[in-house]
Amino acid sequence: MANVIVIGAQWGDEGKGKITDLLSRSADVVVRSQGGVNAGHTVVVQGQTFKLHLIPSGILYPETECIIGSGTVIDPQVLIEEIEQLKALNVSVDNLFISQTAHVTMPYHRLIDRAAEERRGEYKIGTTGRGIGPTYADKSERTGIRILDLMNSEHLPKKLAWAIDYKNVILEKIYNITPLKPDEVIAEYLKYANILRPFVIDSSLKVDEAVREKKNILFEGAQGTLLDLDHGTYPYVTSSNPIAGGACVGAGVGPTIIDRVIGVAKAYTTRVGEGPFPTELNGSVGTLLCDRGAEFGTTTGRRRRCGWFDAIIGRYAVRINGLDCLAITKLDVLDELEEIKVCVAYKVDGQTCHHFPSNASTFAQCEPIYKTLPGWQQPTTHCRTLKDLPKQALDYLKFLAELMEVPIAIVSLGASRDQTIIVEDPIHGPKRALLDPDGSPVTTT
Ligand code: GDP
Ligand code: IMO
Ligand code: MG
Repeated sequence: MANVIVIGAQWGDEGKGKITDLLSRSADVVVRSQGGVNAGHTVVVQGQTFKLHLIPSGILYPETECIIGSGTVIDPQVLIEEIEQLKALNVSVDNLFISQTAHVTMPYHRLIDRAAEERRGEYKIGTTGRGIGPTYADKSERTGIRILDLMNSEHLPKKLAWAIDYKNVILEKIYNITPLKPDEVIAEYLKYANILRPFVIDSSLKVDEAVREKKNILFEGAQGTLLDLDHGTYPYVTSSNPIAGGACVGAGVGPTIIDRVIGVAKAYTTRVGEGPFPTELNGSVGTLLCDRGAEFGTTTGRRRRCGWFDAIIGRYAVRINGLDCLAITKLDVLDELEEIKVCVAYKVDGQTCHHFPSNASTFAQCEPIYKTLPGWQQPTTHCRTLKDLPKQALDYLKFLAELMEVPIAIVSLGASRDQTIIVEDPIHGPKRALLDPDGSPVTTT
């Protein structure tokens, strides 16, 4: 029995959806704690691809309860579309629940997000344009609309009319955008409220019930450590806390119920949007990673920037999240390479730096210092145990585990659920290092 947090250890899109789906077979409850429809989590099961933005990736297991927690921001239009798409694919949403204290993304949030990006010019963040920042800004400003408000059909028109009136001033006067018509927006959102009403609950209470019943709870992170509002590469971050600590805040539970934190990292690095990226590859290797890894955003379709694995960032993710172990994904993408580089330190101001610098301008100047390892130049997508892996691939994984000082619990070699090596089952298995940093014998299951 264990309560597990799954988080992204890089800049998002690490394969959290795949890993959450995989672990959900042992979970009774899966909770999304932060983020909104900026997330795009892909799950591939028996050749069928599911792209989830808000609904937890445990939804494909009919018995698993899936909760969209209090720390998320919910765009009802997108959520309803997602529910409809799942139903059309015969996936039940009977076990889907929505927190009444989550905040609601409104049309003015989306408009302001896009207009603000344009206004930022060279300082643009490269947001997903889904209204995430402005929704969280209203939450902090205490002018947000919560699911509770959406469900109150008596009080919603007045509250929304006030909010639209206020936002229209910003839309018109600052951004020169045609103002929204309050009546139309109110009618639209009252319609959404009726569709979503059956799903709404007190989510903290529901999670607590699961804790008391000693159920397995999985907390599915969205985004990634380096996109964290407080600990990421500010200002090129999202507006929530994707790190492990954020899971408890967003789900409404205490940290003492967490048994294990799993970080998901690609065998290389990607980033969407603006911001520094020391190991970014702009030449043919970057193109190869992008093509072989199909590195195009699940939410926006944008091409992801690609680069070598950055162990400084990896070590930072271990520290900030208190990672117990790692799931390394997309190892297969490296299959063709003759040699593979790993960033082991940075050079900045003539000095060698072994830690992630929290000063953004220092980070922007960091140049990677690489260690080069031999590639394996053979397919790995069929491997199901560590023993099936080519020696160089196993050595690569051991090198990463050694650098980051955490065991690797899962290795992913393809998008499908079955294209996975479970070195250790982080839910049922004892806490033991199977890919040991010191290179001791590897056991497989
Ligand atoms: P998330 O946001 O962290 O859930 O990740 P995304 O779903 O946005 O992006 C990960 C992409 O890689 C998806 O298209 C997955 O289907 C795919 N994927 C996941 N694991 C693997 C893997 O081990 N190998 C390959 N080739 N693709 C993978
Ligand atoms: P998943 O859960 C990758 C990035 C955006 C942008 C920055 C701010 O699929 O890993 P926002 O719209 O949140 O204000 O954009 O954050 N970003 C992501 N990048 N994966 C994600 O989610 C992301 N969610 C936001 O590209 O750089
Ligand atoms: Mg994604």
